[in-house]
Amino acid sequence: TGGLTTIDPGYKNTGSCTSAITFLNGEEGILRYRGYSIEELADKADFLEVAYLLIFGELPTATQLEKFHNDIKAQSHVDEDVKKILDGFPKSAHPMGVLSSLTSALMAFNPSSVNVDSEEDMYNAIVKIMGKFPVLVAWALRKRTGQPLDYGDDNLGYVDNILKMMFKKANSEYKIDPVVSNALDKLLILHADHEQNCSTSTVRIVGSSHAGLFASLSAGINALWGPLHGGANQAVLEMLEAIKEDGGDTKKYMAKAKDKKDPFRLMGFGHRVYKNFDPRAKIIKVAADDVLGALGVEDPILDIAKGLEQEALNDPYFVDRKLYPNVDFYSGIIYRAMGIPTEMFTVMFALGRLPGWIAQWKEMRENKEPIGRPRQVYTGENHRAFKEVSER
Ligand code: SDX
Repeated sequence: TGGLTTIDPGYKNTGSCTSAITFLNGEEGILRYRGYSIEELADKADFLEVAYLLIFGELPTATQLEKFHNDIKAQSHVDEDVKKILDGFPKSAHPMGVLSSLTSALMAFNPSSVNVDSEEDMYNAIVKIMGKFPVLVAWALRKRTGQPLDYGDDNLGYVDNILKMMFKKANSEYKIDPVVSNALDKLLILHADHEQNCSTSTVRIVGSSHAGLFASLSAGINALWGPLHGGANQAVLEMLEAIKEDGGDTKKYMAKAKDKKDPFRLMGFGHRVYKNFDPRAKIIKVAADDVLGALGVEDPILDIAKGLEQEALNDPYFVDRKLYPNVDFYSGIIYRAMGIPTEMFTVMFALGRLPGWIAQWKEMRENKEPIGRPRQVYTGENHRAFKEVSER
């Protein structure tokens, strides 16, 4: 057995590291970034402030935040040759695959960011990716919509600039809608970090071999893409659309979700840690009503989602298993009201999670964590002699 007798599939009961970044209490549904409650940060902070908090450990002074933003703006151009790589993708390419590829490609254009051994190198790599990642996100969207690729506007705030790069039409000014701007800022804060989830653990273990920050982030993007993880926000909308097409028959989908013979899961429900409401889902549900109301968007999908939530919260199968709506259940409804296409929802999750991934990677390197290398319980063949092909 190679010395081990038990394993912990999915690491359900394994602590992989110590961390001072994010605190979760799954039983009580508590989430804090560096000790500040998610409720306060979502209500009072902006996304770049929260990114600074996660990465450097303290809320920034006005001067620190201005310098951070200026250093990011100075790095918010992406080499024109990266567009040639983007051009090589078919329009139908999933934006998460485009994003992870271009994030890796950035290493070729920023070789000094590959090996970050000094604090200064690390800071430079951080502001580079904080500046360039939003450009890649916008380019991934505009590639699909066939629009010219924009570099944004340094006079705008971090999140407003992202909106402009994503949505500015070629022949008209882009006017920032404060409702959309505030909603995106809040959503990005709510997605910014979540301790040792699948994609963050991926970023840490890839980085533990001293692979560069951009390489580790690219791996994290691919882990997040999965429908059991960040890809769930896209899968939720596809599920809600299917229910709508089915005449709103939520009972059929509840039955499917409980049928052990059927691999179907109620997307946006359940969580490895939260055995209570995901505090982010609570905030996003309220925001969904506010944003759709403010934008004058009537979306029957929201009512279907609320109906499904009520059914699940009163269904013994879900109650016994402590399955509640998670961060992905309502977020897509807001993204859709903001004009973001469904296949871009997980990209928006990655955009929010970027500072968390950076903070966790930085902590792993600063703590000089050893290379990640778990063991196994061997269940294969005992030693056996080679057989010539004529004997097989
Ligand atoms: C995210 O980890 C993080 O922090 C992630 C995240 C973050 O911010 O990084 O919060 C973001 O990924 C949120 C989760 C998004 N995924 C989904 O919404 C997909 C649907 N959810 C499930 O696939 C599931 O709930 C997971 C993956 C989220 C958690 O899976 P676990 O912890 O491995 O739980 P499990 O599969 O062992 O399920 C326990 C029981 C099982 O039934 P029994 O075998 O006990 O009879 O609950 C059932 C499961 O079948 N179950 C579900 C269900 N989720 C669990 N049944 C129906 N629908 C579901 N959604």
